[in-house]
Amino acid sequence: MNLGFLKIGAQSWLSFMMPSQSSTMAAGVDNLFYFITWLCLIFFVAIVAAMVYFVVKYRRKSPDQKTSDITGNHTLEIAWSVFPGMLLVVIFVWGFLDWAKMVIPPADSLEVRVLGQKWNWAFSYPKEGINASTLVVPINRPVKLIMSSKDVLHSFFVPAFRIKRDVLPNRYSVLWFEPIEEGTFDIYCTEYCGTSHSTMLAKVKVVSDAAYAEWISEGGDSGGKGLSAAAFGKQLSEQKGCVACHSDDGSVKIGPSFAKLFGKQEALADGSTVTVDDNYIRESIMVPGVKVVKGFQPVMPSFQGQLTDKQVDAFIEYIKSLSQ
Ligand code: CUA
Repeated sequence: MNLGFLKIGAQSWLSFMMPSQSSTMAAGVDNLFYFITWLCLIFFVAIVAAMVYFVVKYRRKSPDQKTSDITGNHTLEIAWSVFPGMLLVVIFVWGFLDWAKMVIPPADSLEVRVLGQKWNWAFSYPKEGINASTLVVPINRPVKLIMSSKDVLHSFFVPAFRIKRDVLPNRYSVLWFEPIEEGTFDIYCTEYCGTSHSTMLAKVKVVSDAAYAEWISEGGDSGGKGLSAAAFGKQLSEQKGCVACHSDDGSVKIGPSFAKLFGKQEALADGSTVTVDDNYIRESIMVPGVKVVKGFQPVMPSFQGQLTDKQVDAFIEYIKSLSQ
């Protein structure tokens, strides 16, 4: 279907301020959107114009004037049923073809697992053995996302790729895309999932084949290359979404602040106290429900299996650095 005439330059006001068309799917989705929108607009203008015309033409001109009886017009009635009916069929078939393209990932896709949890996204590349908090993919190659949630319903949305699908606990949902433009694009959670839903963000970085190969050989973004342990820990706390609930300046969010935390005597919900040391921090990351600080809800998810030892060490160093 060649509908190039409907494709209006991205980001102009005529294109409804749409984000860039950065995947193979984007143009198709936009063209159907523009088709439906302009169709509605044309009918809207035509119907309002006809309405105004008839209101003026058949207005009551004197108090005793009567309108003649209207008995109907078969030709007109069939025309205004069949013609919109055909337009609906066009919209359905068009939408169905694009939908079919969206739900069937190509067999040679690069597979990435996506884990959503309150309130961050984590990516793992099973064949490459890499965990990452930014989705890095090579350009012009289909990517298949196998997605699951650890807790509640989330939804994975990349506006620039025009792809979106719910992410559910206890089952997998699949989404695929083929990026056609290098750059960094936003990932949103677009299903309300609790207090920090609006900060459940991540990035997808589309790079050249060579840059992707290099990224893989360096172990993804989970290595903290060239950073001090504390700086790497700080980076992790942002990437893993810790900052959504824990401040680093002493202000209280959903969880206790990281500031001046290390070495502190912490009162727990069960009435006992604990000294915040390396082991307490590690335990709090892996099994957060065991020693909950008094005054806070046991809402933190476990990060068991999602962090390497090096990452946990770096994170502890970061907490320590906030107490100096
Ligand atoms: Cu996850 Cu909203």
